Amino acid sequence: MKLSVIGAGYVGLTTAACLAQIGHDVFCSESDVEKLSKLQSGVMPLFEPHLEDVIEGVRKVGRLHFGSTEDAIVWGDAIFICVGTPPLANGDADLSAIEGVARVIAKRAIGYRLIIEKSTVPVQTGAQLRKHLSVHSTKGLKYDVASNPEFLREGTSVEDFLHPDRIVIGADSQRAADLLREIYEPIVQQKFTCPIHPNCPKHKDPIFLATDTNSAELIKHASNSFLAMKISFINMVANLCEQVGADVTEVAYGMGLDPRIGPSFLNPGIGFGGFCFPKDVQAFIRIAEKSGCDFSLLKEVEKINQRRVEHFVEQVRKELWVLRGKKIAVWGLAFKPNTDDVRFAPALSIIRLLQAEGALIRAYDPEAMEKAKKEIPDVTYCHDAYEAAEGTDAVLLLTEWEQFRKVDWSRLATLVERPLIIDGRNALSREDVVSNGFHYLGVGGISAAPQMAKSLVSTSHSH
Ligand SMILES: NC(=O)c1ccc[n+]([C@@H]2O[C@H](COP(=O)([O-])OP(=O)(O)OC[C@H]3O[C@@H](n4cnc5c(N)ncnc54)[C@H](O)[C@@H]3O)[C@@H](O)[C@H]2O)c1
Repeated sequence: MKLSVIGAGYVGLTTAACLAQIGHDVFCSESDVEKLSKLQSGVMPLFEPHLEDVIEGVRKVGRLHFGSTEDAIVWGDAIFICVGTPPLANGDADLSAIEGVARVIAKRAIGYRLIIEKSTVPVQTGAQLRKHLSVHSTKGLKYDVASNPEFLREGTSVEDFLHPDRIVIGADSQRAADLLREIYEPIVQQKFTCPIHPNCPKHKDPIFLATDTNSAELIKHASNSFLAMKISFINMVANLCEQVGADVTEVAYGMGLDPRIGPSFLNPGIGFGGFCFPKDVQAFIRIAEKSGCDFSLLKEVEKINQRRVEHFVEQVRKELWVLRGKKIAVWGLAFKPNTDDVRFAPALSIIRLLQAEGALIRAYDPEAMEKAKKEIPDVTYCHDAYEAAEGTDAVLLLTEWEQFRKVDWSRLATLVERPLIIDGRNALSREDVVSNGFHYLGVGGISAAPQMAKSLVSTSHSH
């Protein structure tokens, strides 16, 4: 099918590339001229594992094109809207980019179009879109508006798109539902050439869930808010562990063994960030408020998360006493590993707070430094984890990239001023760290000193 994708960000670019990979003819538009010209000349504007290879492959066989939104609107029988929905100051989702796309569709499109919201939007946005199109379309446009929320995660977006647990569509007409089913059929059947796994192992067929538009829109916000709640919950448990001398790692592991709870999203740390959870929780609170529901539970989730960053800085302050003039290494800037995305990254908030007290930051991230430099230029950006640690009083692990787990601790010990690791993600092996002479501090009161190295080896669990 001829498909259009509007917005070539993390979601749009993945959607365009993967829809082309499963056999569709895709036109992807981008309004940022620098980004667009990069894409047209084969340069990636963002880092996402596997995505560059998929794009290269589908462009070679002529199934993916990049250009203007005006041209994209003319191209596709179905149009996926994947533009940003950032938060406004009051927490509402800013829908101006969506409205902008709707205006172009109303002006340019002739004949039938299926218009699909893939961006995360408040419930009833589909209804608003329909109204807007009916008021503004001038060329005899016939259309359906459907919702198709996206659940991919940055860092594994290609894998998530091609091998999802579920595909949710919200459609209020049979024609729209049938078209969406047709578009996704290769993924529902898991019948396509997988660009990631050469001998793609059999994945469970995803569940194709068709609902009305309002319900599909709500599924996305409710899912993200629920996951955010799990993170805030375990972060409060971490605070409690700190006070009573329990080990939050063991508590989380023990909880996660219950299949009704499950182990995912039970990692305590410096809080959730990124372009989804913080803004989606805010937006969901606002949606509830406007509908007369006081979702106070989520207000607490948000508050707990906001306090994580200050709580972590307090831990650093406790250890280093005076921060003015202290050199501190920061490992990891992205909001999570395997992405270069620093939007609402807790690492950046922590750096800003430390700098406000006069600390000198030396930072390293495998992929996110270019984007971080635009946000916080007055940091010494380093070539690797070792250079960042040179002459520092503490190393802070803020994003759990795999390479930080593989650091040569004995080499690191020769570089630092003071051997102190503060692990904001509880991601490092305490045993490795302390056996090389470092003091280890984790989230939730976890602390280990070099003289404890032997006992850690004897008590370490297999999980
Ligand atoms: N990033 C994620 O992990 C993720 C996951 C699921 C859902 N979402 C949702 O998907 C949406 C997009 O997120 P993202 O992370 O891809 O954002 P993004 O900022 O990376 O991408 C949006 C892109 O749309 C472009 N754009 C804006 N207006 C345009 C127009 N009129 N024509 C063409 N391009 C236009 C922007 O320049 C930008 O490149 C958001 O609503 C987000 O909440 C994101």
